[in-house]
Amino acid sequence: MQVRQPSFGAKKIMLLGGTGFVGRALAGALSQAGYCVTIPSRHVHRHRDLALNPGVRLIDRGQAASDMATVRASSSWAELMADHSVLINLVGILNEQKHNGVGFEQAHVTFTQTALAAASTAGVSRYLHMSALGADAVNGRSFYLRSKGRAEDWAHTFGEQNGIGVTSFRPSVIFGPHDSFLNRFVQLAALMPGVFPLACADALFAPVFVGDVVAQFMSALDTPARIGQRIELCGPADYRLRELVAYAAQTAGQPRLILGLPDWASRVQARVLELVPGKPFTRDNYASLQTPSVCSAGCPRQPTRLEAVAPQYLQQRRRV
Ligand SMILES: NC(=O)c1ccc[n+]([C@@H]2O[C@H](COP(=O)([O-])OP(=O)(O)OC[C@H]3O[C@@H](n4cnc5c(N)ncnc54)[C@H](OP(=O)(O)O)[C@@H]3O)[C@@H](O)[C@H]2O)c1
Repeated sequence: MQVRQPSFGAKKIMLLGGTGFVGRALAGALSQAGYCVTIPSRHVHRHRDLALNPGVRLIDRGQAASDMATVRASSSWAELMADHSVLINLVGILNEQKHNGVGFEQAHVTFTQTALAAASTAGVSRYLHMSALGADAVNGRSFYLRSKGRAEDWAHTFGEQNGIGVTSFRPSVIFGPHDSFLNRFVQLAALMPGVFPLACADALFAPVFVGDVVAQFMSALDTPARIGQRIELCGPADYRLRELVAYAAQTAGQPRLILGLPDWASRVQARVLELVPGKPFTRDNYASLQTPSVCSAGCPRQPTRLEAVAPQYLQQRRRV
């Protein structure tokens, strides 16, 4: 089916997940580029500063935002998207309440289905979807990766059938100020003086800078050739998890000896830590880490080196 032509001059973007780590960076870039951005949130009171960006409107969806993950059709969402030409969906979770896949299915698949159905009703012509490296509906090793894969596949199929131009992005782990990856390991290092017992220490990543991820989203908005593409996003180098944790702890002024746990102990750690409030590590995270989070051979790499950016925010932690 032919992709609908966006109405001339329309520059309104609906940004779902715009209050998160990536969303905040993308909202800033969209605002600077002159777009009008609508960001629904369940927790508007926590994110009021976002509305200081010119053109950014934060709207309180309260329960309704969560309902997107459970309710298939939502006419009120279509009304909300009525005058928007682009939908961007960054909504994602790393942990669910129970270990049964239902939470992931709702947050990733049902949410995407509800949002895109509403967008189609509203006449939205372009959709940018955040997936993840390793997402695979069939062969994904975790609920996270399988649900991300199903959502990505569904979005592309729905777009083709309904004349919406879909591009999806498949990043490795994303770093930048306020990330929940390097910062999280520094927090954990503070609790473990001397030695850091690390699960899945040999897991592979190609950390990609949030600024480079944002640049790829921005470029896709203006590049029709990107429609239909599933774009892998990796930084310039691959690392083992043990190298990243050692680097983050050292850079934050808390050098630690990394003790890679054997596989059985990694599984035990996941079972124990998923019972801790905030679920710092779960069985599903363990399963995701069994798939290397690195790009396919020959895939172009994003330019920003971890070592060029991470010290700027990790070293600040020394001063806090
Ligand atoms: N960060 C990474 O390293 C990384 C790597 C690969 C892929 N990704 C993907 O990139 C996306 C953004 O990641 P991030 O790190 O920016 O995530 P984040 O900081 O945790 O933000 C998640 C966002 O999703 C919204 N959200 C979560 N659950 C929701 C639900 N049930 N209903 C409605 N909204 C919900 C939150 O909005 P409110 O709470 O304000 O409503 C928040 O804005 C996710 O899809 C993630 O899977 C991230």
